[in-house]
Amino acid sequence: MRLISFAASAKTLLQKTSLQKSSVSCLFFEKIISRTMSDQPRWKIYVTRRLLPEALDLLKEKCDIEIWDHDNVVPRDELLKRIAGKEGMLCQLTEKINKELLDAAGPSLRVVSSMSVGYDHVELQQLKERNVLLGNTPGVLTDATAELTVALLLTTSRRLVEGTHHVKNGTWGSWKATWMCGPGLSGSTVGLVGFGRIGQAIGQRLKPFGVKRFLYCGHTPKPEAPMLPAEFVSQDELLQQSDFVVVCCALTPETRGMFNSAVFKKMKKSAVFINTSRGAVVNQEDLVEALESGTIALAGLDVTTPEPLPVDHPLLKLTNCVVLPHIGSATLETRTAMAMLSAENLLTALEGKPMPAQVKL
Ligand code: DGY
Repeated sequence: MRLISFAASAKTLLQKTSLQKSSVSCLFFEKIISRTMSDQPRWKIYVTRRLLPEALDLLKEKCDIEIWDHDNVVPRDELLKRIAGKEGMLCQLTEKINKELLDAAGPSLRVVSSMSVGYDHVELQQLKERNVLLGNTPGVLTDATAELTVALLLTTSRRLVEGTHHVKNGTWGSWKATWMCGPGLSGSTVGLVGFGRIGQAIGQRLKPFGVKRFLYCGHTPKPEAPMLPAEFVSQDELLQQSDFVVVCCALTPETRGMFNSAVFKKMKKSAVFINTSRGAVVNQEDLVEALESGTIALAGLDVTTPEPLPVDHPLLKLTNCVVLPHIGSATLETRTAMAMLSAENLLTALEGKPMPAQVKL
């Protein structure tokens, strides 16, 4: 108390002096004062990965932070040890948030903030039973992910990786009329499996390429569809009609393993299959078979199971498959926005205020 009233009178004094805000020492003093005057407790949190400095600075103002200050995944036993007694946790999509982790955290844990839009790594029911809140980062990565999806689609359909391989390996040869040909977007039909924020943003970006029809499927028609426009069709119709099948849905029990042999067989033989959602929506063995047998023509994947994909995986031996290392949201601006939003989610939840982006449990 005495420290607080000293701080308050010191602040009044400072405001009356000519030092004002231009003085570094004054700023420093003010920072100490505002912290001392605050009667808010400092939250104990665990951060599971090295974080961009802006987000860490925000958390430092109100939290005592323990952090796995590395770029690799925190070892599970380390995570289970460090999470004990924490009130909040800022994690990545690589950490399984399940009973084991929540038991290790104990009853103090009030919020899990994931620096991802997807939350298939979280067992929602376990959080619900313990009244632990969950935050995620929707919206801020829509543009980056849509942009990457378009890049992957064009890289796959126009066979860019194969092409550069020939250039570098001396197998270019002379100009040949039918060499390195792939399907064009102009006049094509694009099927979007998942017509949420990201699916719609992909459609908007593909439209100027002259796509003739956009199709989407799901439980119900979306009010945003007429803007593209996109037609609501059954999944079978989408598979049968689309030249490009673009997967941008969430991983749920319903979509897990959805793309299997039976589904690939419904697609055109010339179909290009693109997945930037989660690897687990695809049965990868069936995909390898579909690509090897010519059931479909080409595939472009930003997500696989597991990640990283072992270098001897059959998918990586195929010339008609492009694999990227889960970089949909990888622009510096987007990753910064994701880090800031996950920090804000964590802080607001700890303060008992509505989170900017809370997952409904
Ligand atoms: C997410 O946020 O879920 C993406 O897969 C990674 O940015």
